[in-house]
Amino acid sequence: MALTRRGRFITLEGSEGSGKTTAARHLGEWLRSRGEPVLVTREPGGTKLGDEVRRLVLHLRDVSDDLDPRADALLYAASRAQHTARVIQPALERGQHVISARYLDSSLAYQGAGYGIDLGQLRQLQAFATYGLLPDLTVLIDVPVEVGLGRKRAGAWNRFEDTQGVAFFETVRQAYLNLAAAEPERFRVVDGSGSVEATDQLIREVVEPLIFPAG
Ligand code: TYD
Repeated sequence: MALTRRGRFITLEGSEGSGKTTAARHLGEWLRSRGEPVLVTREPGGTKLGDEVRRLVLHLRDVSDDLDPRADALLYAASRAQHTARVIQPALERGQHVISARYLDSSLAYQGAGYGIDLGQLRQLQAFATYGLLPDLTVLIDVPVEVGLGRKRAGAWNRFEDTQGVAFFETVRQAYLNLAAAEPERFRVVDGSGSVEATDQLIREVVEPLIFPAG
């Protein structure tokens, strides 16, 4: 797959309750209001196969603790390959900007740091699944674990949040911060603990120079 792209590829990352999905939607609306063509998508999901994988992994982890970490990683990778090849790359070639809530860094944080899969092997799997396509910009929406889980408690609380416990989500949060520190040119970290409007504003400030370099 040729990696030509005319649009920009932005991913939003963060742990449970960081508000990625809402932030992605709002960022898309803002860019559209400024005349930019945008596709907003998410992982797992974004394709028929991705939606099936999403249903499958989220269901499995809510009914059983028996899913092998490598099987789990491969399911997310399958969703990612389909998403990259059939949705993200074609949109970038058409000149659309793509905003995805979650992408390869989710696997590095959850399957790698969270479930202990070897990071070198996991990176190889990500390179395979993404055809080497990296985001131009990754916005890490950082929230303290208790804040994120508190938001989940108020809404979509699942067995997963109970069984993993706070330590798991602390590990994931720290892994994200480490990924951001290791790649400062790709990552921007924003504080997601304030209001939705405050987070939206912080995200716009880091996206603006990428999309409107002269302004
Ligand atoms: P998401 O819908 O973004 O959940 P939330 O809004 O609760 O953050 O993601 C679903 C779950 O899938 C989330 O718990 C993280 C997990 N996940 C991985 O473990 N690895 C991955 O590569 C991806 C994309 C998601």
